[in-house]
Amino acid sequence: ELHLPQGYNLRPLEKEDFDRGYLQTLETLTSVGDVDQEHFNDIVDYWKSQPKTYKNLVITDYESQVVAVGSLIVETKLIHSCAKVGHIEDIAVRPDQQGKKLGLYLIRQLIELAKEEGCYKAILDCDPKNEGFYVKCGMSRAGLEMEYRF
Ligand code: ACO
Repeated sequence: ELHLPQGYNLRPLEKEDFDRGYLQTLETLTSVGDVDQEHFNDIVDYWKSQPKTYKNLVITDYESQVVAVGSLIVETKLIHSCAKVGHIEDIAVRPDQQGKKLGLYLIRQLIELAKEEGCYKAILDCDPKNEGFYVKCGMSRAGLEMEYRF
């Protein structure tokens, strides 16, 4: 069984995470840009107004700092008798906290959330260099990502 290190916690994102390094952790994934506290609050309010759709998790360390982040977006479809699909998005573990199984723990929780919400699958797009990580999370390669960039 997988456990978080002593003093670490997994919980839903809160507005107060702005001051606990949420955006700094997210920077591990990609450029976050200019997001001040007001913008951050607006986005968190928007997510929290649709709790069945947006599920944003954080892992905090023993000093309550955000060290890992990840999201699940639950999409309701018409196909397969109005089935739901879970989209796993924006996974990041702070560089100095990588290799402690925080990413694995987070993905397992997001997959479990998708299952609880009745999704028939959970999917994500990633760089080929992360394939091995997601295989260790029990996922397997499916399809090909396409984009039209603006
Ligand atoms: N390739 C192959 N195996 C890997 C990789 C990798 N890139 N990263 C970790 N693993 C392995 C680990 O060695 C470990 O294996 P073990 O169980 O045999 O010891 C297992 O996967 C679990 O590793 P964790 O310790 O849980 O990984 P970590 O907490 O470091 O998180 C992550 C991995 C999320 C990829 C992290 O390195 C990270 O934040 N990277 C930068 C941002 C990023 O690329 N995020 C994912 C984008 S895709 C998306 O968001 C949908």
